[in-house]
Amino acid sequence: SKKVLWSGRFKEGATDATLAFTSSLHTDVKLARYDVLGSIAHAKMLSAQGIISQEDGKEIQKGLKEILLQIEDGTLPIQDSLEDIHSNIEFILTDRIKDAGARLHTARSRNDQVVTDVRMFMRDAILDTIEELIGFEKTLLEVSKDNIDVIVPGFTHVQHAQPVTIGHHFMAHFSRIRRDIERFIESYSRVNVCPLGSAALAGTTYDIDREYTSSLLGFQNPCYNSMDGVSDRDFIAEFLFNSSLCAVHLSSICEELVYWSSQEFAFIEMDDAYATGSSIMPQKKNSDVAELTRGRTGAAIGDLVNILTTMKGLPLTYNRDLQEDKDAMFSSYTRLTSCIKMCSAMIATLSFNKERMLSAASEGFMNATDLADYLVVKGMPFRKAHEVVGGAVRYCIDENKKLEDLTLKELQSFSDLIKEDVFDILPLEKCVNRRKSFGGTSPEIIPVQLDNGHSAVDRQ
Ligand code: ARG
Repeated sequence: SKKVLWSGRFKEGATDATLAFTSSLHTDVKLARYDVLGSIAHAKMLSAQGIISQEDGKEIQKGLKEILLQIEDGTLPIQDSLEDIHSNIEFILTDRIKDAGARLHTARSRNDQVVTDVRMFMRDAILDTIEELIGFEKTLLEVSKDNIDVIVPGFTHVQHAQPVTIGHHFMAHFSRIRRDIERFIESYSRVNVCPLGSAALAGTTYDIDREYTSSLLGFQNPCYNSMDGVSDRDFIAEFLFNSSLCAVHLSSICEELVYWSSQEFAFIEMDDAYATGSSIMPQKKNSDVAELTRGRTGAAIGDLVNILTTMKGLPLTYNRDLQEDKDAMFSSYTRLTSCIKMCSAMIATLSFNKERMLSAASEGFMNATDLADYLVVKGMPFRKAHEVVGGAVRYCIDENKKLEDLTLKELQSFSDLIKEDVFDILPLEKCVNRRKSFGGTSPEIIPVQLDNGHSAVDRQ
């Protein structure tokens, strides 16, 4: 039977099948660096407190630093038979420096060790995700600025509603991404708390200094309750929610880009670098980057449901189920950052078919609200104006005309409040330019959003 960390109590070893079944090495190998850093801090604290000797403390740190180098160059002799990366590192260290290594686990449990590592990983994952999102924000700001007055149909219910500009449209996407970033930032303080020293669950009889290890590892403070320390996975659930919502936002953008690039819409064309072809139909150019980003949202939401479901039935404190917390987190992080990167590049290189968008915008009576507003200014109550313009639209549909094509006489048959100046408000540019209310689509005021967006990006 194999030698494992807990051999003492057992008459016989577990079967190979049991060891393989209970192993988390394939996943937590990604925590190797953090595990060493956590152990170095723990060893420093143990020797500073006189719990282990100065010499042992030095030996351990030296041994761990060698292990760190081997992790970095990929030469650490990791054994599959050992349950996880934590056992592996401790095993290798002890094999090299004997008793000194065997003292490292004093006043510590894997329960607090593992979750300390995870929190260190997550800090980096959050910062990296934020950095990718800021890059994406810059793309959205740029596309918006470059197309500040390019008219495109604005939709509600996927029906033509009112004309807007590409600048305004992409700044709406920017606003969602901004909130995603804020959510990641706000979550950081709840991640940046150190459980190390919680030990198995109840704290420890040794005179440890948790403030010291916490500050060595750059945490804000040690967690206040050791039982919560070893069992809290809220921060993972929060990360996975934030990642899922961000994925949902990307998916929504991508869904739009997919149909905007269809033959029927033809508002945009993807750069060749971000499109793929068909193995059978030679003419095809497909928006696969956008579709896969949309498709991978399913897995993102799945990861969130995964952790919540794992957590829901667990009593305090550590339960082995918690070993399963890492796959979702690692895969969500990798998936989301690659989606952000690709979406950003794809959107930065989009070409907009301005004529096509403008001609689409001229269909569907998108200036009908403007005509109603015109009547209101002339004194008609809005409800009545709505009814009158509805009649005019009905007439246009029957006559196959646009509102702006009607003669003054035709228009006046709907209301004698209509005068020659009606033709000043009907063109699409006017519809757009006159929407100058705060947050509106007029190119004259979009710079307010752009400036606000730029200063948010610069603050980071
Ligand atoms: N491999 C385990 C994990 O990642 C280590 C925790 C071990 N603790 C325990 N009581 N078995 O969660």
